[in-house]
Parts: sequence; structure tokens; C-alpha cells
Amino acid sequence: MTAERPVQAVILAGGQGTRLRPLTHARAKPVVPLLNRPFLAHQLALLRAHGIADVILACSYRVDDVRRALGDAEHLGVSLRYVVEEEPLGTGGGVRNAADLAAGTIFVLNGDILTDVDLSAMVRFHEAHGARATIFITRVADPRQYGLVELDADGRVRRFREKPPADEPLTTDTVNAGAYLLDAALLGRIPAGRVVSIEREFFPELIADGIPCFGWPAPAYWRDIGSPAAYREAQLDLLEGRARMLLPPPGALRDGSWFGDGAVAAADARIVAPTALGERVHVAARARVGPGAVVGPESRIGPGAVVEGAVLWERVEVGEDALLQGCVVGADVRIGARARVGPDVVLESGAVIPERTTLGGRAS
Ligand code: GDD
Ligand code: MG
Repeated sequence: MTAERPVQAVILAGGQGTRLRPLTHARAKPVVPLLNRPFLAHQLALLRAHGIADVILACSYRVDDVRRALGDAEHLGVSLRYVVEEEPLGTGGGVRNAADLAAGTIFVLNGDILTDVDLSAMVRFHEAHGARATIFITRVADPRQYGLVELDADGRVRRFREKPPADEPLTTDTVNAGAYLLDAALLGRIPAGRVVSIEREFFPELIADGIPCFGWPAPAYWRDIGSPAAYREAQLDLLEGRARMLLPPPGALRDGSWFGDGAVAAADARIVAPTALGERVHVAARARVGPGAVVGPESRIGPGAVVEGAVLWERVEVGEDALLQGCVVGADVRIGARARVGPDVVLESGAVIPERTTLGGRAS
């Protein structure tokens, strides 16, 4: 029997995005801007590139944010449907909630991973191994923050251990990358109407019951964008070519940088590639933006200011001769003249930074 090619995906997008605070006070994690597009648009582009156009979003937290940013996603070439948990049901409960809409073999994605993985190759692996569940796995330096996936020699998953505590010996450095192929019939195993963890309950139980569950180690770019540092670095990875850019920033590419509609830079301002300027961004005289800068729509960079390795959301005002390096700046932030904002600083949307303030110390 040849399985039908998967055409559906469920994206888990109902977490609170706690570690991305304070950015997620202003916007739900699935739709924080990444290269001036809602994060999930990048995942939808990946799915679409592999023929997956029927996507179900399992949401619970701040659904309105997500709907406003993505709608039915027709403009992204997919059809997006929403299933909403009144109370968060966990990663397993979220997928279970989508079960009525899902059939055949389906992709399930955590809604906060950026990857350029070859999903079609994952399907081939799944079929070749006669798997009913395949987990995309990757290697990381700090496995304890993830789900450990131990494999047998033939690639079958021997053990799935979510976030082992510090006193438990580490058994592997391969972890769950948060992308699965599942036989939708297995979703019936997840009890309805209560909180269920796909990592702590569903996978361990599949393995215990001898259901063929395989780990697929793919040579792909992969990152969980769930912390401010990872969120910023993911954008540099795309701009600098470490991750394949499936969905470029809005605007026209000129000399290695993207200029959104109506973005203007003064004649003696410098836009250093790779940089992405959103729509109607204004860069004043003597300012330098880039390398590695993402500037949200309608932001204004003042005369002589420098913005590098930094991510700015929309309508940020950067004062004269201010210096921004390696930081993340929420929407509508105002940064006073000659202020310095250094690496790893995260400014909440609406923050006002007075003139000559130094934040983060290391900006030089
Ligand atoms: N619908 C729904 N309901 N979605 C949820 C819920 C819920 O109650 N709780 C979390 N999610 C979504 C989040 O929005 C996110 O997209 C995804 O499920 C994973 O949740 P995280 O909170 O980001 O988990 P994590 O990053 O600590 O760990 C997970 O991802 C790692 C890879 O990044 C686990 O799957 C680990 O095993 C994995 O290694
Ligand atoms: Mg995560």
C-alpha cells in the first residue's frame, strides 16, 4: 500500500511565549515579526514549498493577534483554519483538538521553529521506514532545554525524554526539533478535553506500545526562536545566508539590502548590507543602518544614528547620534539622542529611553 502524499499540517501556536517577554506582551509569539513578516508566514512558506497547503492552527492564547496578522493566509498560498482551545490544552491537547479536521499523514509543527528542512525528504523517510510517527531531530549544545530523542541503530525511537532535570545524566545530544509526521489515526489516542503533553505523554506511550516511531536526523538549519537572543539571531542567520530564505522581507532588493515601499535614506546615510528596511522607513543624514539590521515599517532613524545587528519593530524613533547594537526594540519605542543600547537588550513596545542613556553597557 502506498500512502497518500501528506497535504495537511497542524501548527501548535497556543503557547504564551513566556521566554520572549517582554516582546510577547505586545504580540503573540507566532506572529512576532521576523524580517518584517509575521513569524508564522515563514513556516507557511516552508509548508507551501513542499505542497502542504491545508494548514490548521491550534491556538489558545491571543488568537485575535494571530488572525489579524495572517487571516486565512490566502495571500501566502495556503488555506489556514483556526481551532481554538478555550483553556490551553498543552501540545498534545492542541493537536487533538485539530483531529476532526485532519486525515491521512499530517505534519505537526511547533509554531516557534525556524527551519529550512526538506519536508519532502522527511515524507520519503517516513514511507521508506514504514513509520507511523517520524520526529525531525537535531543536535544542540544544550539538550536539557529540549526533548531528548534516543534512537536504536535502525533509527527507531527508543526513548523520548522531555527536558530532563539537571541531576539526570544526559543520554544523548539529539533532540526533538518540533516537527513531526504523524498518521492522523494516532490522534485518537490523545484524550480529549484535558491538558496533554505530546512530548511527555503521547510519544512515550507510542514507544511503549511498540508503534513504529522513527527519528529523522536532517542536515538543515534549525532554531527555536522562543528567546529574545534566538529571535534576533534567527534574523541574522537569514540575512547572512546561514538559513535559506524562503520568504524574503517585503520590498525590493538593492545592493544586498531590502527596501520596503516608500523607504528612504538621505544621500549621505549608509545602508550596509545585509539589511532590511520596512515600508516607509526613513533614515536621516549621516546615519548608518546595518550590517545585520531589520527596521520595522515607519521607523525613523535620526541623523548620525547607528543601528547594527539589531531588530526594530514598527514605528521606532531613533534620536540623533544614538547607537543601537545587537538589541531588540519593540514597536513605538522612542530612543533619545545620543542614547546607547547594547547587545542583548530588549526594549518593550512603547518604551521611552531618555537622551544619553546607556543600556547594556557593551555598545561601543
Ligand atoms: N495549541 C497549543 N496549546 N499550543 C501550545 C500549547 C497549548 O497549550 N502549549 C504550547 N504550545 C505551542 C507553543 O506555542 C509552541 O509553538 C509549541 O507548542 C512548543 O511549545 P514551547 O513552549 O515553545 O516548548 P519548548 O520550546 O520548551 O519545547 C518544545 O520544543 C522543543 C524544540 O524547540 C518541545 O517540543 C521539545 O521537545 C522540543 O525539543
Ligand atoms: Mg519553543
